Amino acid sequence: MTKIAFITGITGQDGSYLTELLLGQGYDVHGAVRRTSSLERSRLAHLYADATIYNRRLFLHYADLDDPTTLRRVLFKVKPQELYHLAGQSHVGLSFEIPETTCEFTAMGTLRLLEILRDLPDPPRFFHAASSELFGRPSQVPQTETTPFAPINPYGCAKAFATQMVRIYRETHGLFAVNGILFNHESPRRGENFVTRKICRAAAAIKKGLQNELTLGDTRAQRDWGHARDYVRGMWLSLQHATPDDYLFATGKLHSVQDVIETAFAALALDWRNHVKFDAHFLRPAEPLQLVGDASKARTVLGWSPQTPFTALIQEMTRAELDTLA
Ligand code: NAP
Ligand code: GDD
Repeated sequence: MTKIAFITGITGQDGSYLTELLLGQGYDVHGAVRRTSSLERSRLAHLYADATIYNRRLFLHYADLDDPTTLRRVLFKVKPQELYHLAGQSHVGLSFEIPETTCEFTAMGTLRLLEILRDLPDPPRFFHAASSELFGRPSQVPQTETTPFAPINPYGCAKAFATQMVRIYRETHGLFAVNGILFNHESPRRGENFVTRKICRAAAAIKKGLQNELTLGDTRAQRDWGHARDYVRGMWLSLQHATPDDYLFATGKLHSVQDVIETAFAALALDWRNHVKFDAHFLRPAEPLQLVGDASKARTVLGWSPQTPFTALIQEMTRAELDTLA
């Protein structure tokens, strides 16, 4: 029988890659979308355009994370076997400016979904997109599934609440609920105001003579960056295992924003020194330190490992930007 998956956040970077993966595995995929003033959902456009997929194997339903009645109705109707919960305000810097909506969607939105699952006669397996931002300024480097939470921004705090709730619902209500502790993952579909995409996009625009300057905040900041396609495979694998648990997904390698700049500009034979400027507007009130993950558990238990090295990721993103401008 055809398996049915439901995705919140289907229009986002990860939602689009996960949809492709699940369709490729033979699933019917349902997704929740918000009503916006535009119907443009560019990351799914290629799937809409395919008459063999849209409204045959891929179905979209209007539902917001702060609208539990609608979510409940849709989930009762669709009866998914797997639910991937990816929706939320995902920008850490912006979470300082809009802390209430960040917590409303990311923390309370997750709790509302867990409450709905409790009431379903046959609850789906549930994946929650947790984050390395749980660890903030961690006591342990690299981090593992047992590293204590120490979030330092509203986004990390909201994710910590949601992650702990997932554990509570797994342990006390017996739900098949999994936290995937995801370190930074990027792709040509990354939102334009995340640093890797911003840099790759600017490098391509500079190459084409459409832009001259790129303004950035802290270029010494470091992250553990992988490819989104690898991370959605981890999400899927974590729901195929016999028992629910938490898994950390990371490459285990730290790079700086400066490394991203140098790799992207070098890919287009540009000298970054002529173009990159500092702008304090992009500094954050607090920066996490040494967020780098040890994904041994995912490797041993799920057979997961990241396939795309940092340099290949940034080169792919830069080339994709150049192609878009061509
Ligand atoms: P993204 O590109 O920003 O996508 C976020 C998705 O959530 C979009 O589909 C968005 O819909 C939806 N959404 C936001 N608020 C909503 C609401 N109130 N109701 C319904 N839908 C809502 O994020 P992503 O990179 O794919 O990340 C997916 C998840 O993983 C997020 O929860 C993020 O916090 C988490 N995560 C990501 C990373 C990473 O490096 N990418 C790392 C750790 C954790 P619209 O299209 O309508 O805006
Ligand atoms: N966005 C942005 N824009 N970041 C900048 C800039 C800039 O102009 N200049 C420097 N940075 C630095 C930020 O201060 C941060 O230290 C680093 O670049 C990465 O920023 P983002 O790309 O915005 O990602 P993030 O690490 O804050 O958050 C992402 O990864 C988390 C996992 O650790 C998001 O995807 C989160 O949703 C995710 O949980």
